[in-house]
Amino acid sequence: MVKLTIDNKTVEVPAGTSVWQAAKSVGIDIPTMCYIEETEHFTSCMVCLVKEAGSGRFFASCSTPVVEGQVIITNDAETVESRVASLELLLSEHVGDCEAPCQLVCPAHMNIPLMNRLIAAGDFPRALEIVKRDIAIPSILGLICPAPCEAGCRRKQVDEAVSICSLKRFAGDEDLKSTAPYLPEFSTPSGQRVAVIGSGPAGLAAAWYLQLKGHQATIFEKNVEAGGDLRKIDTENLPREILDKEILVILSSGVLIRLNETVDENRFSELQKEYDAVVVAIGTVKDGMSVFGLEKSMHGIITEKHSYLTSSPKVFAIGNSLRNSKMAVRSVGQGKEVAIVIDNYLKTNVVKSFHERFSSKFGKLFEGEFTQYINDSESAVRQHAGREGFTANEAMIEAKRCMHCDCRNPESCVLRELSDRFEVSQRRFKVDERKPVERLIHREGVVYESNKCIKCGICVRLTRQYKEAFGFTFIGRGFDVRVGVSFNESIQKGLVKTAAIVAKACPTGALSMFNEEEQL
Ligand code: SF4
Ligand code: SF4
Ligand code: SF4
Ligand code: FES
Repeated sequence: MVKLTIDNKTVEVPAGTSVWQAAKSVGIDIPTMCYIEETEHFTSCMVCLVKEAGSGRFFASCSTPVVEGQVIITNDAETVESRVASLELLLSEHVGDCEAPCQLVCPAHMNIPLMNRLIAAGDFPRALEIVKRDIAIPSILGLICPAPCEAGCRRKQVDEAVSICSLKRFAGDEDLKSTAPYLPEFSTPSGQRVAVIGSGPAGLAAAWYLQLKGHQATIFEKNVEAGGDLRKIDTENLPREILDKEILVILSSGVLIRLNETVDENRFSELQKEYDAVVVAIGTVKDGMSVFGLEKSMHGIITEKHSYLTSSPKVFAIGNSLRNSKMAVRSVGQGKEVAIVIDNYLKTNVVKSFHERFSSKFGKLFEGEFTQYINDSESAVRQHAGREGFTANEAMIEAKRCMHCDCRNPESCVLRELSDRFEVSQRRFKVDERKPVERLIHREGVVYESNKCIKCGICVRLTRQYKEAFGFTFIGRGFDVRVGVSFNESIQKGLVKTAAIVAKACPTGALSMFNEEEQL
């Protein structure tokens, strides 16, 4: 047996054990990417670096055996920095979008490509579920949103943007037609209560997401009807039937509403005592308007940047009360985010900023690269929704125009997870010229995107282990080495037995199954 110390813990393991396994045996987690236990190992990613205390030397823990008396450090600032540098080097030549450009510019951060895939497949209820994760009032927004997502749509580089906004409206309208509109699963009731002042888009969204998270939301609305500024939009553009129906869906979740009830400074103080948190969503703050004694600027109520916390403890503010905007979708997005912040606050008593996950981006497609993306979409011209919105057939045709610019493994990708955990920058070692995008699709098997490959060789070793006739191999040498199918064969031929196995084992989104959605 070999005895050593890892992060001040004494460890005793058989000779030949790797430092990584020794650390694991005492519950110390060292991240890995290129290492999996099922195959032989080839050290490449260097995210498992650890430091030997005596010499100050860094080495890959996954492939280095333990040495008697060694003292290992896995998590001091220097070790973490070296791990960060390894990740940033991998990202410097990584050409991938964790999230599609449309989703990144949507103020509510809606998962547009996934909605599109579900509509294209005719699975409208699932599409609605995806929409409602981020947008509480899709039919209303489908009518009034200026669609910043379409301005960011990559299909514009080929012909015209996908009609994202009308597709979202379609998903919402289909649901409103049903006798029992969709209600997501609720969290266990917390017994805690949140007052929401105002029932415009921000207040409605905040109340809905708080209620789903198990906290009783009560909206206080000074008017006799809910909707706030939405009721100022002319009925041509926003039929009242849609507005009323969608508000009813919000209330069907158990959100309480007290209409015709003005909140003045006294009532506001009472609400602070009676409720566990208060959300101010009172719309545009006009000159001289009271904001219950909260700090304000010339634009509106002042809040902490990503937490929406005002100058008063347990009071949060969102929507136009922060700054006037014509984009209701921004308010709706903030309603979702503040619900996440408040949920965490009610559980931990700590106000933590809303976390934006790491997202790799590569920007515009170059001219010759369109074909790689258009392969995954239909060449139909953009469908324009009439007054009544899309029919099911039109919606499916339009959704099929989407080029699916998102990554197919955004949840299981270890590169993304570690980049997020270590808060790395993709720009630190940025290269001048990026690699071209390549997307090889086998509709019954995998999608292979070589530009996302970190050359860990896991697929190479697995296809060899499973005795594929062709399998994956390293092609070329040095910096230009890449991974592809032996003898330039197609991916179908390369992965006859192992498509699902390599897609599961690949630590990035370079290899994924075409017909599997991991975000459902
Ligand atoms: S492979 Fe990972 S890091 Fe790259 S785009 Fe996909 S999810 Fe993001
Ligand atoms: S083509 Fe689809 S995934 Fe790509 S930006 Fe447009 S809507 Fe989003
Ligand atoms: S494609 Fe193969 S070599 Fe590239 S990251 Fe995935 S498993 Fe590793
Ligand atoms: S996991 Fe050790 S080098 Fe990649």
